[in-house]
Amino acid sequence: MSGDSLSWTSRSEEQTEQAGQALAAELTGGEILSLSGTLGAGKTVFVRGLARGLGLEERAIASPSFVLATLHPGQPGLLHVDLYRLADGAGIDDLGLEDAMEDGHVVAVEWGERLPEWLAPHAWTVRIDLAGDERRITAAPPLAATTRGDSSAPHG
Ligand SMILES: Nc1ncnc2c1ncn2[C@@H]1O[C@H](COP(=O)(O)OP(=O)(O)OP(=O)(O)O)[C@@H](O)[C@H]1O
Ligand SMILES: [Mg+2]
Repeated sequence: MSGDSLSWTSRSEEQTEQAGQALAAELTGGEILSLSGTLGAGKTVFVRGLARGLGLEERAIASPSFVLATLHPGQPGLLHVDLYRLADGAGIDDLGLEDAMEDGHVVAVEWGERLPEWLAPHAWTVRIDLAGDERRITAAPPLAATTRGDSSAPHG
């Protein structure tokens, strides 16, 4: 696990996709990413770049708001989750986040600030902040180590 945060300035949708693609290069599978930023900040756009970087079909990446979680198969695949409609963390255990991580997929969670406390320290924290007509994107590695197949990984 690398210890340093990454950051990018984006002036376009394509540049935000490139940031997601660059972060994908840091991942091996089994990671979870917590994405936060206001409505329309570019979280879904970033996940599209992540998918591109993982070699997945990026055009398939749409907002999962109505289904909460969509698995894009691959090695690793990508579980794209949106917690916007999830009230107070209810039902999060049914979304298969841990199973996807244990299966070696990358899990990208929009509105990741709604992740439960026990899971948040295991997540990369990706923030997208608006600064004028730019976006500032930062990605900080997890506070706690989570490795694929680690039997000490969290279990609720
Ligand atoms: N620099 C930029 N980076 C990303 N998106 C941008 C940028 N500039 C403009 N946009 C536009 O902003 C919108 C970002 O939408 P997106 O669905 O990715 O936001 P989101 O953070 O996922 O929102 P939500 O919270 O509703 O899920 C797109 O319409 C995109 O074209
Ligand atoms: Mg979105």
